[in-house]
Amino acid sequence: MNITIALAYLLSSILFILGLKNLSSPKTARRGNQLAMSAMLIAIVVTLTKNEILDFTLIIIGLIIGSAIGAIIARKIQMTAVPQMVALFNGLGGGASALVALAEYNRLSGDIRIDVIISMVVSLFIGAITFTGSLVAFGKLQGLIRGTPVVFKAQRFFNMLLFALFLIMGIIVTINPANSTGLLIILAIALILGILFVMPIGGADMPVVISTLNSCSGLAAAATGFVLSNNILIICGALVGASGFILTRIMCKAMNRSITNIIFGSVGTVSVNNNNNDKRVVVNYTEEDASIMLEAAQKVIIIPGYGLAVAQAQFALQELVTMLINSGIDVRYAIHPVAGRMPGHMNVLLAEANVSYDLLFDLGDINDSFQNTDVALVVGANDVINPAARSEKDSPLYGMPILNADQAKTVIICKRSLSPGYSGADNELFYQKKTLMIFGDAKESINKIIKLLKT
Ligand code: TAP
Repeated sequence: MNITIALAYLLSSILFILGLKNLSSPKTARRGNQLAMSAMLIAIVVTLTKNEILDFTLIIIGLIIGSAIGAIIARKIQMTAVPQMVALFNGLGGGASALVALAEYNRLSGDIRIDVIISMVVSLFIGAITFTGSLVAFGKLQGLIRGTPVVFKAQRFFNMLLFALFLIMGIIVTINPANSTGLLIILAIALILGILFVMPIGGADMPVVISTLNSCSGLAAAATGFVLSNNILIICGALVGASGFILTRIMCKAMNRSITNIIFGSVGTVSVNNNNNDKRVVVNYTEEDASIMLEAAQKVIIIPGYGLAVAQAQFALQELVTMLINSGIDVRYAIHPVAGRMPGHMNVLLAEANVSYDLLFDLGDINDSFQNTDVALVVGANDVINPAARSEKDSPLYGMPILNADQAKTVIICKRSLSPGYSGADNELFYQKKTLMIFGDAKESINKIIKLLKT
């Protein structure tokens, strides 16, 4: 490889690593993105200068179409739809790796070294699983496919059978690379396995699936890097694979789940409360009640959730927080690792409203403070404060650490109805005496509270 290209790839790799490092804190995340974007630009430009490229026509057409689609999506996408978009991106990354492996197989027409054919099989297999798995995840997040686990009898056995078949076909194709039917069978198995892996996952466990698929898209890209002998693709893919894996571990810890339990266990079974004899009562409080409680409080913890993103209430909420702080109240935000619909969702929303990072506290750092807190103000959150996670063994949330909102003296919950959150689980906290349910759109409710506090 040309020394200039090698050095440029090295620079790009360093920038990717520095970018990732900076992404580990909200304070430096913007810089991290800029570094990673520059790294990608260098990698693309340098790859395009390689003299192996004989014709730029298709590349230019692809660049124009891809950039146009990307620009339109970036401008139009709603903040609440970003998680689906990430799922789709993962899928397209995996699909692209699988297609490149197939194209290279076609180009080499059967005359393939053993290391290259193994890389092709791996790239095709992981890439195709990522593709269909991500499409199902997209469908579930978009509400096109029902979020509840879809399972059938002997599903685990069937998955294992398919995996064994893949191993056999992998060996056959490795021994005889000219066997293109074998490669197509591997593709078909992987496409089916992707669907079968994600369909049974429901309830609140999607965060782990999304981060796992993210990791898989990186692994597929790294394998494609070996197929093409392209160092930057190997490094980039490995970085995505490794960081996705770390994220998966963080998500598993946040959910108190094991990855094998999620992938093979069809967890997240929904237990909706269908009890028609439900005698529980909910008191419908008003924004006026909430403003009185907040005015009288000394310590307040805000718990944002997915509904904050739906209502786009982050600016109003920060205005309220600033007012409370200015009147001498100790206010902090409690951030649950899986609040919202994507990793870091709440951090991104609150950063948009210029919330100081010093006000944001992770679950582990703030959970003990709830017992000394006057008001826990819950804005569009539900699963992350559901006490069923602690005690109800048949709840899809069982075992997931939650924010101890129920330990505060008073809990104010802003949401539109009694509907369950993403997991579909009923929330007992809505019915407790210390809870003030303020029904309505979060932004409207917060704005009303601000108005009342101003008068
Ligand atoms: P959820 O449990 O999903 O609850 C959000 C609540 O927001 C809903 O109950 C909804 O109730 C309310 N809401 C919706 N629109 C609203 C509006 N305009 N104004 C006020 N409230 C509104 O959210 P959460 O507590 O953030 O928990 C996240 C859940 O999503 C977890 O189960 C998590 O596992 C899952 N999940 C997370 C991720 C990641 S990576 N974060 C990815 C996929 C899934 P109403 O309809 O009654 O208003």
